[in-house]
Amino acid sequence: MLKDKNILVGISGGIAAYKVPFLIRLLKKEGANVRVVLTPYAKEFVTPLTLSVLSEQPVLTDFYNTGDGTWHSHIENGLWADAIVVAPLTANTMAKMVTGITDNLLLASVLSARCPVFVAPAMDLDMYKHVTTQQNVVKLQQMGYHLIEPASGELASGLEGKGRMQEPEIIFSVLNDFFKYKDDFKGKQVLISAGPTHEPIDPVRFIGNSSSGLMGIEIAKSFAERGAQVDLVLGPTHLKAEHNGITVHNVQTAEQMEKACTSLFSKSDIAVMAAAVADFTPKDKTSSKIKKEAGLKNIELVPTTDILAGLGAAKKSHQLLIGFALETDNEIANATSKLKRKNLDIIVLNSLKDKGAGFGVSTNKVTIINRNNKHTELPLMTKKEVARKLTDTIKQIMK
Ligand code: CTP
Repeated sequence: MLKDKNILVGISGGIAAYKVPFLIRLLKKEGANVRVVLTPYAKEFVTPLTLSVLSEQPVLTDFYNTGDGTWHSHIENGLWADAIVVAPLTANTMAKMVTGITDNLLLASVLSARCPVFVAPAMDLDMYKHVTTQQNVVKLQQMGYHLIEPASGELASGLEGKGRMQEPEIIFSVLNDFFKYKDDFKGKQVLISAGPTHEPIDPVRFIGNSSSGLMGIEIAKSFAERGAQVDLVLGPTHLKAEHNGITVHNVQTAEQMEKACTSLFSKSDIAVMAAAVADFTPKDKTSSKIKKEAGLKNIELVPTTDILAGLGAAKKSHQLLIGFALETDNEIANATSKLKRKNLDIIVLNSLKDKGAGFGVSTNKVTIINRNNKHTELPLMTKKEVARKLTDTIKQIMK
């Protein structure tokens, strides 16, 4: 996928810079044209000579050559690149990227870029955990930059924690996958529901559930990374879905989620209902706080509208509808009958029996069942990987 692609590799001054020559080798082997731009401190960690031999191009560090005054155009760098990858991204360069400071050639090249920018942060665990860095990580993603999250493990300081730059092979595969999948859902409008709902009892109390929304958010991101325009109807959660292809519609209750999903569905090509919607809501919601002295013996509940079933009934022939099923008994049979009853194209079966699957964890174990009764039982994997497998399956059956 990377053959003849122009990849600008930006290196900032951190110890992980010593691994970047391996990334350049991988990119060159695949046929990419590689241009390397170093920040002044990066030169202390990896030599320009090594990098220029491997990239087969002069390595750039300054705005101009002090010898003959030749200008190294940051604008031309930005326009030349089909993708930029900054690896390692130090806390300092990250902060400057967020604020638009351009006091070196790498920063100015990134600011001039029209292409996707990938960043692979690397720093000590406390620097990565710091609220400033975490805010900057969010901001970078809001700006549309692709985050290659650091791994956890032993750090150069001798401490253990999150902050290790991802290995060159991982960074390479992120770039490769980007070019491979980026247009899969181009022009497609996708609706996703995710997270829990909160059903109010009074102004300060509610009935909810422990869904974090992570599964649905990963599905939204996977679609957006593959070129779709995504509407994410998101119940109350602390998680964010940062991607410029995703429009988030925040809701609290099942009723609000239903209204949002129903109105967005008509313009959608694909809808994935991953939310853990409350099946019941309190019949009476008091507008003032219920006082302890007054007591509360019972809460009368009434059913909510089944959003997925409503979309299934309204579904047009060009639309694909995907639902989730959480089953504890007769899992396949129950999920298959849910698929038929709700007029779905695919149902994703979550089994609560499996360790590491379900709410509040970053992994999931699912079986993907389609209309023709084809079952694909996936092993335990991260929710991000499940999302990728699901979007692969949807791509295969897309009309
Ligand atoms: N769902 C929905 N609206 C609801 C309830 C559920 O859209 N009011 C959707 C969920 O987002 C999920 C699917 O329906 O995609 C299945 O939810 P699940 O709780 O497994 O099943 P139910 O249909 O509620 O049936 P049951 O509780 O009988 O298993």
